[in-house]
Amino acid sequence: MIADLQEGKKKLAVIGLGYVGLPIALELARKVKVLGFDIQDDRVEIMKQGKDPSNELLPEDFEGCDIQFTSRKEDLKDASFYIVAVPTPIDEHNQPDLGPLLSACDTVGEFLDEGDYVVFESTVYPGCTEEDCVPLLEQRSGLKYIEQFKVGFSPERINPGDKVHTLTTITKVTSGCDPESAELIARLYELIITAGVYRASSIKVAEAAKIIENTQRDINIAFMNELSMIFNKMDINTFEVLEAAGTKWNFLNFFPGLVGGHCIGVDPYYLAFKSRTFGHHARIINSGRDINDGMGSWVANQGLKKLVSLNKDIQSCRVLVMGMTFKENVSDIRNSKVIDVVNEFKSFGTKVDVVDPNASSEEVMKEYGIELTAELTPPYDAIVVAVNHDEYLDLTEDYFTSIAAEDALLMDIKGIYRGKINKLIYWSL
Ligand SMILES: NC(=O)c1ccc[n+]([C@@H]2O[C@H](COP(=O)([O-])OP(=O)(O)OC[C@H]3O[C@@H](n4cnc5c(N)ncnc54)[C@H](O)[C@@H]3O)[C@@H](O)[C@H]2O)c1
Repeated sequence: MIADLQEGKKKLAVIGLGYVGLPIALELARKVKVLGFDIQDDRVEIMKQGKDPSNELLPEDFEGCDIQFTSRKEDLKDASFYIVAVPTPIDEHNQPDLGPLLSACDTVGEFLDEGDYVVFESTVYPGCTEEDCVPLLEQRSGLKYIEQFKVGFSPERINPGDKVHTLTTITKVTSGCDPESAELIARLYELIITAGVYRASSIKVAEAAKIIENTQRDINIAFMNELSMIFNKMDINTFEVLEAAGTKWNFLNFFPGLVGGHCIGVDPYYLAFKSRTFGHHARIINSGRDINDGMGSWVANQGLKKLVSLNKDIQSCRVLVMGMTFKENVSDIRNSKVIDVVNEFKSFGTKVDVVDPNASSEEVMKEYGIELTAELTPPYDAIVVAVNHDEYLDLTEDYFTSIAAEDALLMDIKGIYRGKINKLIYWSL
């Protein structure tokens, strides 16, 4: 299979060309013939012009790639090796929504031939590949799993906005449904992953490894957020405590903050869901989710209390929120918890302006129904720096005072300006 792919006798298809799928498709397209398939025509049209609709990749990343972008399912008939990288979101009840994944299986199953391979990269709970995806592939293709087609799981570990840890420089975990496929899948990824490949012992182990990486982060950040709630009452700065505690060699390096996005704030729900089907209520995982999901409104409430204590009339207060994306230095606003901060302030009648140097105003309007403020209209009674974008790191107290009202509050969620603010009323997590 690998030799046939390298010689162009067989084609590899990547299903779902988003943050994960497009980089993997382009990287592989330097080694083998690739079909990049996505159901969104408009995104495919942009990629055909050598541009990344998610604004993560540069035009030069498309150069020298043997790739055909398509939204026509029929083009998949030429593919023999499929990599699936579609979204795995949660629904409004925080339950896994396997809709896109199962729909991708339906598409692949329609064109699956004997001897083909399907590797899933989407983050799922342990067991999902073989219990939810494989039966659909079998049913749709009429082929028998392992005997007639092989399946593997190789989770993606890219970190949005991170220019150091990139697709090829992060060790890739791979797995297959039998020893032969496990080896072949590992060797395929070894064509592009310079950091090397870790062969997990089974598909379930690989699925579980990915989900606990993100769940571990979520729980650790939730612990920091809980500490922040405690230390706020005690009038102790959490970042100062963490700096002091961090001088011990085995103290873990985590900080409080808003946990949004489509990975850390979502994946633990997948694990909690699956553990429930085994009769285990995941207490620590659910507690972590509970704390992190409530952080946005808790932060706004701290601000509201401060404004009241300053004898300000909440309904005539004006708040500026700086940063709308789910994390620093990305343009992705999906599942950003900043909206919880905004909505909590607004629910008290406070007027809120929101700015972000990276987010698209149209996307913010589409996703949250609010407009990004194009031009600041000072003075603001509270300024909330919600995201530590590079553009915000060097802002000075003079800048904040120039846009602040008298007795204004600076809410520094990420603790960027700790020790540098003397005239404004300072608060951080
Ligand atoms: N974004 C990250 O940093 C990251 C990191 C690690 C893992 N993951 C996981 O990777 C998976 C993909 O995430 P993403 O961020 O790339 O998502 P994304 O939303 O950026 O992209 C998914 C793409 O899949 C397409 N799609 C949806 N249903 C489809 C279907 N049935 N057939 C073909 N295409 C379809 C969408 O149009 C979209 O372009 C998820 O499981 C996610 O949890 C993401």
